[in-house]
This record gives sequence, structure tokens and C-alpha cells, in this order.
Amino acid sequence: MSAGSKSIFLLLLLLPSEWSNAVATGGEGVTAQAHYDHTRIYYMELGNEQHVELFQRLEKSDSYFFMGSVRVPGQKLTVMVIGHKVADFDDLLHRYNVTHHILNYNFQAEIDANYREVLPTSTPVTQFDWQHYFQLDTIYDWLEHVARQSPEIVTVLDMGSSTEGVPIKGVRISYPQEASSAPRTSVFIESGIHAREWIAPATATYFINELLHSSDPTVQALARSQNWLIFPCINPDGYKYTFNGDRMWRKSRAPHGVCRGVDLNRNYPMRWNTTGTSGDPCSTFYSGPSAGSEVETQRVMRFVEKLVRTENLRTYIALHSYSQLLMFPYSSTPERVHNYDDLTAIGKKAVAKIKSLTGRIYKSGSIYETIYPSSGGSKDWAHGELKLNITFTFELRGPPDSEVLFILPAREIEPTAREAFGAVQTIVEEAAKRGYYN
Ligand SMILES: *[C@@H]1O[C@H](CO)[C@@H](O)[C@H](O)[C@H]1NC(C)=O
Ligand SMILES: *[C@@H]1O[C@H](CO)[C@@H](O)[C@H](O)[C@H]1NC(C)=O
Ligand SMILES: *[C@@H]1O[C@H](CO)[C@@H](O)[C@H](O)[C@H]1NC(C)=O
Ligand SMILES: [Zn+2]
Repeated sequence: MSAGSKSIFLLLLLLPSEWSNAVATGGEGVTAQAHYDHTRIYYMELGNEQHVELFQRLEKSDSYFFMGSVRVPGQKLTVMVIGHKVADFDDLLHRYNVTHHILNYNFQAEIDANYREVLPTSTPVTQFDWQHYFQLDTIYDWLEHVARQSPEIVTVLDMGSSTEGVPIKGVRISYPQEASSAPRTSVFIESGIHAREWIAPATATYFINELLHSSDPTVQALARSQNWLIFPCINPDGYKYTFNGDRMWRKSRAPHGVCRGVDLNRNYPMRWNTTGTSGDPCSTFYSGPSAGSEVETQRVMRFVEKLVRTENLRTYIALHSYSQLLMFPYSSTPERVHNYDDLTAIGKKAVAKIKSLTGRIYKSGSIYETIYPSSGGSKDWAHGELKLNITFTFELRGPPDSEVLFILPAREIEPTAREAFGAVQTIVEEAAKRGYYN
């Protein structure tokens, strides 16, 4: 036996014990990974009431994932159909003459490509960029790195731990100010409440980088005009699970009977559990056992309530994907906020800014009128309860009929973040002009 074949022989001997390790691991160490082989994405238009009834029944099945809820004839909807149901579903569409087309035939291929765009956690923090996606540990290392580089401007903050004991970290960016100048107002940026929307944390870190390093004098003035509190990932357990369990996970990871997780953006205490939400812990849109029940919700609420008192907080911005929308409250009622006209005008200017920067078309308007009714969202709470009059939420790239849903290719991170940052600049400048920061 040669030395080479001897080591192969030894390797073979080692393998069975590795298998038994894999089999024995349960509980905390998740080893199984969700797969979406031959899972299709359909884009369809509901032609009549019969279609609405049909799909409202399917919505309850966990073989179909509807992006948004089935509501009215004329509505266009994206549906993910799990592999073993594609024949049934295709038959149904043809039997009832539902106008549709297929956006994607094998969703797992997108997920595989997307995981290859993540740099390993061993990557030196100096190689952090906006051409790749990063795991939570790398994002947190980068926040610490940024604070070490500019200690007089940046402080790393921790809201406290998630359900699984992971800190919810962010930064405070505050440029030194002359003692005589008027106290600054502040902007809070909430990102990553939905785990699978990876572009949101990536965009939040881009914002941090721009506020610290932009050479554009208008951005430098913007950065100095406010204190910035930016939290890239307020659902850290969910975000981690999108790497080691299920790329399409949306909720938190708190155990609730046979299922896990609350849709944290349905858990805030304003008209909680009234529309566009579910009381079923297994649903993607589960609102939780009671208003504000989840530890992550409570962390954000306490933190932001305090900012109103201590940091003169006036602006609340949330980052989501996808659909290319820029929206303001309310989402749970057709009732209009008191400054609806101002927010409409500011939203229009911000989406015009996006178009001028990258050519992308975003739609603006109230959440209720623009996407779909939902209750328990953080923005209704921010505007309705905390009276933060400048409250906006982004649905970042891609378009409403995206073929890849939340799996935005990494080459689009930089332009997506750049256009969103331009919109934030417009929002803050326009709000200032209208006296919201006096
Ligand atoms: C099916 O839909 C098309 C387009 O909406 C329509 O032209 C056609 O008449 C419909 N057929 C049936 C059987 O309903
Ligand atoms: C939330 O609303 C759903 C649907 O109306 C209902 O079934 C459920 O009991 C509600 N949850 C709570 C805790 O009230
Ligand atoms: C928001 O606007 C209302 C009505 O003008 C005002 O009472 C409230 O103080 C404003 N909120 C903040 C935080 O400035
Ligand atoms: Zn979202």
C-alpha cells in the first residue's frame, strides 16, 4: 500500500463517525436545511370574485406562499408553489382561466447562487463591502471596526438580547458640535425586521458608510445635521436562521407550540391583530400571542421611546424588500395621517430623486393605499403612538414582478443602497424645509 492510498484508507475509516455525529446532533445545532428544488414562482392576475375565493382558500395551505394577501379582483399576485404542488397548481390556473406567467422554475438555483455571494465569517473586516452579503457576526465586527476608526463620531449601541440571546446592535453617529449650537434632532433607521430581506441590512451598513465617508458636501452637511441611530438587523435570530436553516424565513425564532416565530412587523401595539395578519403560529404573518409580546418588539419600543426623550427623535425610517415602494403610515386603516399631504409631497420628491440617480421607478404613497392593509407594523406605532411625523418605509429592489423575490443578486446591493440613501437625503432635507425639525 502506498502512502497515498493509505491516507485514503484512513479517511474512509473516519467517515462513519462523522455520519453518526451528524445524526446525533439535534436540538440547538440545526443541521437540516430547507430546499426549494423545482419550486416555482407564479405571477398571476385575479380576474374575478371566483379567483379571489379560490386563492383565499389556498392561502391557508403551507405548500403555497403568497407575497401579500389575496383581496380583490384585478389584483396582481406573486405565489411561490412548492415542488410537489406545481402540477396541481398549474391545472387549477388553467381550469379557472387565471391569467398568469411563470417567473421562475427552480427557486433553489437562485438560493444556491445567493449563498455563493456571502463572504465567509473569517473575512477580515477591512474587506467588508457592498458587492457581497455578510452574516450577522461579520456585520457586527464591522460596526465595531467603524467605531474604532472614528471614536469621536461613532458609538456601538446594544438594545439588549433577542429571544435566542443574540445582541441587537447598531450605531449612533453624532458629529462633534459646538456647545453654543441648537440641539440636534435625530433619525432612527430600523432594518432587517424580516429575516430573508437581506438587502435591508446591506443597505443600512451602506448608509453608515456614506454618513462617515462621503465626499459629497451635501451628504456631509446631512450627516452633521442630525444624530443617526442605525440598527442593521433588529431580528438577529431570524437573520442567522436564513443562513443555517431556511433562506426564505421571515419571522423571529421564538417557539410557539409546533411552530416558531412571530412576524415582528405585525406585533406592535397599534390596532394589533386587526388586518393582514394571522393568529396561527405556523403562519408567515403570525401576529404573536398579544400586542408587543415579543422581546425584539419590546427592545425596539423601549429604545425608540427613550430616543424621543433623550435625542430629540423626529424621523423613523424602516428598510424592507421587495417591490420598489416608498411608503408612510397608516397601514392598518384607510384613515389618513394628519400630515398626509406633506408626506405625499415628500415621498414624490424622494422617488424622483431615486429615478434621477439610477433610473429605477419606485412608487410612493400611504402603506394602506400602496401595498396592502396590515396591522401591528412598527411605522403605525411610530407615527400614531410616538407622534414621529416623518415616518417612512422602503420596499427596496426588485420590481413587483421580480423573478427572484428576496434573493437580490449582490451586484445590485450598491445601486439599491445608493438610490435609497438618496431618497433618505431628500426626505430629511424636505422635512427640514417644512419645519419638522424646528
Ligand atoms: C379566458 O380568459 C381570456 C382572457 O381574459 C378570455 O379572453 C377568455 O374568453 C376566457 N375564457 C374562458 C373560458 O373564460
Ligand atoms: C388574532 O386574530 C385572529 C383572526 O381574527 C383570531 O383568530 C385570533 O384569536 C386573534 N388573536 C388573539 C390573541 O386575539
Ligand atoms: C407631530 O405633529 C403633531 C401635530 O402637529 C405635534 O403635536 C407633535 O408634537 C409632532 N411630533 C413631534 C415629535 O414633533
Ligand atoms: Zn419586510
